[in-house]
Amino acid sequence: MTMNKRVPFVTFRTRVRDETVEGPNPYRWDDKTTEDYFSGRRTILFSLPGAFTPTCSTQQLPDFEKLYDEFVKHGFESVYCLSVNDAFVMNAWGKALGLKKVKLIADGSGEFTRKMGMLVAKDNLGFGLRSWRYAALIDDGVVEQWFVEDGLSDNCETDPYGVSSPQNILATLKWLGAP
Ligand code: BEZ
Repeated sequence: MTMNKRVPFVTFRTRVRDETVEGPNPYRWDDKTTEDYFSGRRTILFSLPGAFTPTCSTQQLPDFEKLYDEFVKHGFESVYCLSVNDAFVMNAWGKALGLKKVKLIADGSGEFTRKMGMLVAKDNLGFGLRSWRYAALIDDGVVEQWFVEDGLSDNCETDPYGVSSPQNILATLKWLGAP
């Protein structure tokens, strides 16, 4: 699926460690915008229904981490994993998985995901509004290729995973003859 959509401009509320902050929890808010993450570089974004959930935690995110260097060879500067979870949850997830390469983006309010057209209800799981599973190749803030799992819908009974896997994206890049 190709469609040249510009990624929506939003502000993401991140939490960063800052040793100058006194007390037992030395973190502060650090706002980042869409431009900070996506401007002036080729990036891959993949988005999933929830931190710590089984497929996301044991397959999709670890596989992107393992295959990260392959994406770098294709000229991508960053690989981002986004979820409609807050910055505290995303930081804890990254720490639990020992992430070193893939960067996490917390879209706690779901604003980015909604503006991407990917916000779905997952009330059937008690999750509220979350991201449909998808990935996108993004060049300087413009989506050049989408990898959206089939069946985008509210309260979907299944959780398709394959199209947005790193293996499928790499196979597609190879098939397209991408450098
Ligand atoms: C999973 O990644 O396995 C998952 C995602 C959302 C809800 C339930 C499971």
